[in-house]
Amino acid sequence: MISRNTIDQVFETARVEEVIGEFVQLKKAGSNFKGLSPFSDEKSPSFVVSPVKQIWKDFSSGKGGNAISFLMEHEKYTYPEAIRYLAKKYNIEIEETEQTDEQKEQASERESLFLVSEFARDYYHDTLLNNEKGKAIGLTYFKERGFTDETIKKFELGFGLDDWNAFTDTAVRKGYELKYLEKSGLTIVNETRQFDRFKSRVLFPIHSMSGRILGFGGRTLSSEKKIAKYLNSPESDIYHKSKILYGIYHAKQSIAKEDNCYLVEGYTDVISFNQNGVENVVASSGTALTSDQIRLVRRLTQNITILFDGDAAGIRASLRGIDLILEQGMNVKVLMFPDGDDPDSFSKRVSTDELKEYLAENTQDFINFKVSLLMEEAKDDPVKKAGLIRDIVVSISKIPDRIQQEVYIQECSRIMNISENVLFSELAQIDKKEQRDASKRPVQLRPVEPILEKTAQVEEVNELQKYEMEIIKILLLHGNKEVDFIDLLAEETDGNKNEIYTNIVAQEIYLELQDDEMEFTNTLFQQVYFDVINQLNQDQKINVDTFINHTDINIASLITNILMDDEKHSLSDWNRRDIYVKDRDDHLSKLVSDTVFNLRRVLIDEKITSLTSTISEQDSNESILEEIINYSNLKKRLFLQLNRVV
Ligand code: CTP
Ligand code: MN
Repeated sequence: MISRNTIDQVFETARVEEVIGEFVQLKKAGSNFKGLSPFSDEKSPSFVVSPVKQIWKDFSSGKGGNAISFLMEHEKYTYPEAIRYLAKKYNIEIEETEQTDEQKEQASERESLFLVSEFARDYYHDTLLNNEKGKAIGLTYFKERGFTDETIKKFELGFGLDDWNAFTDTAVRKGYELKYLEKSGLTIVNETRQFDRFKSRVLFPIHSMSGRILGFGGRTLSSEKKIAKYLNSPESDIYHKSKILYGIYHAKQSIAKEDNCYLVEGYTDVISFNQNGVENVVASSGTALTSDQIRLVRRLTQNITILFDGDAAGIRASLRGIDLILEQGMNVKVLMFPDGDDPDSFSKRVSTDELKEYLAENTQDFINFKVSLLMEEAKDDPVKKAGLIRDIVVSISKIPDRIQQEVYIQECSRIMNISENVLFSELAQIDKKEQRDASKRPVQLRPVEPILEKTAQVEEVNELQKYEMEIIKILLLHGNKEVDFIDLLAEETDGNKNEIYTNIVAQEIYLELQDDEMEFTNTLFQQVYFDVINQLNQDQKINVDTFINHTDINIASLITNILMDDEKHSLSDWNRRDIYVKDRDDHLSKLVSDTVFNLRRVLIDEKITSLTSTISEQDSNESILEEIINYSNLKKRLFLQLNRVV
C-alpha cells in the first residue's frame, strides 16, 4: 500500500489546474479557469476549475471533485493508480507501507512480470519498426492490412523473428531473470533447452485498464493449416484471459463519453475500428464474455452493443452468453454486418462517417433481435415455437429491472403473436424455479458498485435533508468566522432583550445541535458533520482541504458540490467580471439561527407524525401522548423565539 505520507505529499504538491490542464484546455476567467466539459459534447463551457479551492466542477454532468477524482473520472484510474500517476508527474518518491514478507514477495513478483512484459513489448515493437527482417515481413504484413504507422505505434504492435532465441537471449543479456521470462510465458523452458514462444509471429500486446502489459497475442503469417492462427500468452499472475478485454485501455475514455461499448471478436476488429475513428470498442478475443469482463465494462457504461459478422451459426452460439450480460443489469444491443463482412473488413471499406452511420442505424435491441432470429427458424413448427418462447422468457427473466421486463414481455407478445398472460405466467414459473435453485446455491455477493458512478448530487431530496445540507454548507463556508448572536434564551427567561454574544459559527452550531442531541438523517451529512466537529474540538479550526481531499470519494465530491455551488452563477455571466456577489456575512448570524430553527422544526414535525402513527386503539397510550404534547410545546416555543427575531 502507498503510505499516508506519500498520499499527503501528493495532495500538497498537485495543482488541480495543472493536472486537468493536461486533458482540458482551460482559460482563465476571474479567479477560476473554465473550459469545455470533457464529459459531454458541449459548445459553451460549463467546466470550472478553482485554483483557490483546488477543486473542479462540471456543471453539465454534475461531476466534481479534486485532482484525484478528476483522474479517476477522466482516466478511469483507481485511487492508487491516480496517486501513482501524480507522484510520477511531480517526481514524488512513492513510499510503501510495511508489508509482510509474503506480500512483498508477491508484489515484487507481479512487478517483475510486468517489467519483463514491458521489455518484451518494447523489444518486439522495435524489431517490427527497425529490424530488416521485421520490416520486410512484419511491417509489410500490417501495412498490407491497411494499418497506418500511427495505429501501429498506438497499439504498440510487434514482430517476433524466425529465430528460436532472439528475444530470450536479449532479455537475459539485459539482466531479466529467466524465472520471470518463463512465468510470463515469453520463454518456454524444458529439460534440454529454452526458446522464444513468439517466433515468426506478429504480436498484439494486451494492455490492462491502466495501460500495463499483461500478455500478448501472436498471429502467424503462415497460411499452413497445421499452425495455430493465434498463439496467446499463457495464464500467469498478471494475465488472466477471462478478466481482461483487448482494447479496454484505448477505449475506456471513449466508452465513458459515448456511454456505450462495442464488443467485437478479434484484435484486428478493435484496431481497424480505432483507425477509422470509433474508439469505444473492445474484443473478447474469440470467447464468450465472462462476468469479470462485463464488470470491467460496467465501470464505464451500462450499455453494450455486440457486433456480429453475418454468420448465423456464430450468432446462435453466442446467444446464451448474452443472458449473462442481461443478468448484470446491462442494456444489450446487437448489430449485424452484411454477409461476408466482419467489423475489420467493413470498417476498412467505408469512411468514418459511413461507419458511424451504419452503427447508428443498424443497432437493434437484443431481445427483439433474438425473437426475430428464432422466429425465422421456428415459423411453422409449433414444438420449436414453444421451446423458443421459453428461451426468450429465460432471457427476459435475467433482466433485474421489473419494469423493463414488463416492457419486453409486451414487445414479445406483439412480435410472436402470443398473449401477454402466457408469457407472464411462463416468467413467473422461471422465477420460482430460479428462487428454488438459488436457495441451494451459496450466497453470492453483489458485485462492487463502481465508485464515482454518480457524483453525490446536491439535490434537495427532502426538507429535512435540505436543512442538513445547509448546516454542512455553513460549517464549510463560514465555520471559522466569528459572528454576533442574540441570546434568545436569556430573552425568554429574564426578559433581557438584545443580549448579544460573540461566537465562532461552528461552535455555535455545535452547541445548538448538541442541546437536542440531534442526528442527521442523511448518513453522508452525518459523517461530514461528525468529522467537522471532531476537527473543531481538536484544532479549534475547520480545515476544508481535508474534506476536499477526503479518501472517501463520496465525501470529497459532496464537499466540492457544496463549495462550487456559488460558481454556477458566474457561468451565465461568462464575460462579466463585475458580478455583484451578495455578501452573506452580514446575515450570517440570522442564517445560522434560521437554519438551526428550521432543522428543529422539521425534526419535531416528523417526530410528532411518527408518534401519532404509533397510537393504537387498545393499548394505553399515555406515555406516547405525553411525548406528543412535549414536542408540541417545544414547537410552540420555537415559533415564539422565531417571531421575536424576525
Ligand atoms: N483467437 C485465439 N486463438 C485462435 C483463434 C482466435 O485466441 N486460435 C482469438 C483472437 O483474439 C482473435 C479472435 O479470437 O483476434 C478472433 O479470431 P479470428 O476472427 O480468427 O481472428 P481475427 O482477429 O479476425 O484475425 P484476422 O483478421 O487476422 O483473421
Ligand atoms: Mn478478421
